[in-house]
Amino acid sequence: MNDATSPSGVLLVTGAAGGLGQAVVALTMREAPETRIAAVGRDADKLRAAFGDAHLQIVADVGEAEGAAHAVERCTAELGVPTQFAHCVGSIVLGPVARVNPAQYREAMRANLDSAFFMLSALSGAAKKHNTAMSMCFVSTIAAQVGIANHEVIAAAKGGLEAMVRSAAASHAAQGIRINAVAPGLMDTPAAARFLSSDALRDASAKQYPLGSIGTPDELAGLIVWLLSDAAKRVTGQIWTVDGGFTSIRPVVR
Ligand SMILES: NC(=O)c1ccc[n+]([C@@H]2O[C@H](COP(=O)([O-])OP(=O)(O)OC[C@H]3O[C@@H](n4cnc5c(N)ncnc54)[C@H](OP(=O)(O)O)[C@@H]3O)[C@@H](O)[C@H]2O)c1
Repeated sequence: MNDATSPSGVLLVTGAAGGLGQAVVALTMREAPETRIAAVGRDADKLRAAFGDAHLQIVADVGEAEGAAHAVERCTAELGVPTQFAHCVGSIVLGPVARVNPAQYREAMRANLDSAFFMLSALSGAAKKHNTAMSMCFVSTIAAQVGIANHEVIAAAKGGLEAMVRSAAASHAAQGIRINAVAPGLMDTPAAARFLSSDALRDASAKQYPLGSIGTPDELAGLIVWLLSDAAKRVTGQIWTVDGGFTSIRPVVR
């Protein structure tokens, strides 16, 4: 069996051209430069702008089963079976339920839940076929863990993702496949740009977090890279929250 933590591992990153995806790739290159990386996105120009000529760049829409299968097959053919996987695809969808139209709801489910399921399906199939150990990390949100007003759509999608992660971790533990997720609060990436477009908005958002400030993709990438590494070899089926205390503490209000 291949070793998911071998220094010459293959890392597959979806949503690679996004804020978090780029941070995961950059940190991996710093910490384990021998890792072979496949960067997946829907837009070849965005991938090229993010990575130049570096890495295997795969254009695929993983919101569809065919796109997910294509990403895994191409990575396997050109770099080897992925031994590490970071699913950085997703969006932020907010608003009163009555104002979310059916197309927006479907697209939110597609980006945040369908994509995760199709990647899990394609990767677990490849791991079984090639008898390969693997570590996977998905990305949730704090809105799946605590009720936040007007987050119904994203809470439903990411709540499904979290439940899927726990079940999949149980299904695949005996094969040496570890599956975890991280759950950030607001993070300074393109997905959050509209909430952070002025100093006033940024300050108001930061005040919601007991530790203050806004999360960064680099902080979350640190946790993801650790979860994918051999250092976390006893860790599976867990959701790791990084939210400045938002979901777990009630600070004194002065
Ligand atoms: N930023 C935050 O405040 C925050 C908070 C909680 C959770 N999250 C989660 O963190 C993860 C990373 O997001 P980010 O903050 O790095 O945002 P980002 O910069 O917008 O990156 C998200 C990536 O997801 C891909 N994507 C979006 N919709 C898609 C769809 N329908 N089908 C396929 N791919 C799609 C995009 O890939 P393309 O390059 O193909 O367009 C994009 O690069 C997401 O799961 C997001 O839900 C973010």
